[in-house]
Amino acid sequence: MPKCTIDGKEVEFKPGENLITVAKRAGVEIPVFCYHPGLSVVAQCRMCYVEIEKMPKLQTACSTNAAEGMVVKTQSDPVVKGRAGTMEFLLLNHPLDCPICDKAGECDLQDNSFGHGSANMRHTEERRTYVDVDMGPVIEKNMNRCIHCTRCIRFGEEVAGIHEMVAIQRGNNIDITTIDGNPLQTEYAGNYADICPTGSLTLRDFRFRKRAWMLKKTSTICEGCSKGCNMEIQHEGNVIYRCVPRENLEINKYWMCDEGRMNYHYTQDEKRILNPRSGATFIGWEDAIQTLKDQINEKPLTVLVGSDLTQQELENILEYTKNYHKGSSVYHFGTEGVFTSAQDLPVDKILKMKSKTSNLNGAEKLGIKSVQEMKSASDVVLVFAGGRANVQSVTKKLEGKKLIGIGVYSLNEAESFSMVLPSLSFTEKDGTIFNHQGIEQKLKRAIQPKNTIKAISEILMLTANKKVKVGAN
Ligand code: SF4
Ligand code: SF4
Ligand code: FES
Repeated sequence: MPKCTIDGKEVEFKPGENLITVAKRAGVEIPVFCYHPGLSVVAQCRMCYVEIEKMPKLQTACSTNAAEGMVVKTQSDPVVKGRAGTMEFLLLNHPLDCPICDKAGECDLQDNSFGHGSANMRHTEERRTYVDVDMGPVIEKNMNRCIHCTRCIRFGEEVAGIHEMVAIQRGNNIDITTIDGNPLQTEYAGNYADICPTGSLTLRDFRFRKRAWMLKKTSTICEGCSKGCNMEIQHEGNVIYRCVPRENLEINKYWMCDEGRMNYHYTQDEKRILNPRSGATFIGWEDAIQTLKDQINEKPLTVLVGSDLTQQELENILEYTKNYHKGSSVYHFGTEGVFTSAQDLPVDKILKMKSKTSNLNGAEKLGIKSVQEMKSASDVVLVFAGGRANVQSVTKKLEGKKLIGIGVYSLNEAESFSMVLPSLSFTEKDGTIFNHQGIEQKLKRAIQPKNTIKAISEILMLTANKKVKVGAN
């Protein structure tokens, strides 16, 4: 492998790698604004200045590829001076509203200003102001905080596949806005807030709900479709405040869709059933388990399992029916019109898949057949679901049968069931899922479940055991 030297350290590189990537490998962080590894390189902001031996002027590290024998300095006097000059320019028009800005604590402008800016400004002119356009339900815009890095414009064109953000006017009058001031069209708009290095584009769903530094972070997987985008659930005090994408170059790169980003809301919705319920009445767990036992006895059953459940939950259900209800049939369900992974095709050229559940592939790996193959059903049907599977698509097929729901259900769905036993959502459990590519991934528990709901494994254990006394979760 060829080698170059960065701040006195010899580093190997692959041909084509830029100095930012190579320096990072050597443990040297070069500050950036316009550069993003998932977007084209434009070298506009001039924040990533480095000094390269035998080159007369400072160079931008994002647009310079490493070369054999290259000697790079990232901390020399000219570099420090150059970056301070860039910061001074970038802050000419920036308001002093960090204390009330939602980006504070995770703002590249704040961090780079602290790390590389100068304490003195020579600027005496008035700062410019803007009337902001309405960018739709996902993103709020504060143009006066913009540093014209054009990451947002490039994201639209290069990733979301929609040319909807533009720079109009030039110089001091430049305005980064949407075409004709229209609201954003993309279904991937949340990424604009992630990539904006300042508080110019922020997520409406998260604005002013929690300071960024107070959030705890759990690395997990989105359950919104079979893509299995890697993401982080950010939470505090057992409340989820937002979900953001995590880098996985094999699956979602740096991005996630808005549907997946906002999906967590149903887990905290006031309509979610959090106590066992018989008919329209909430009951205790002791009564619920006894009623369940009385109704299913040891008869063969039809059991429907959502393809939004984890491998462990599906295995537990298969084991339980095999041992306690011999002759039962188990079918998976999830998305209308998508019964097999062969039918699970991409919805767009970005990320979204047709299957709205995360583990269709996993259910198939366990040999569970699709609900489409169900010819008849037992009088009592158990319906297990994790929250994303389309329950109404199966309950409407089973009119006249007594349906018992075990899993994550809303009050609206409860009408189809004679009884509901509430269980854990994807934010409250650990488990394994397989995405549409067959890649095995892990769900991680982010928050503690309410003590009135129980894991499917516990519900099955209590149902199987004639003597166990029911306690709190
Ligand atoms: S809005 Fe944000 S991402 Fe877009 S150009 Fe301005 S600073 Fe960059
Ligand atoms: S594409 Fe699918 S897995 Fe990825 S964020 Fe969207 S819903 Fe979630
Ligand atoms: S990060 Fe290199 S010029 Fe902007």
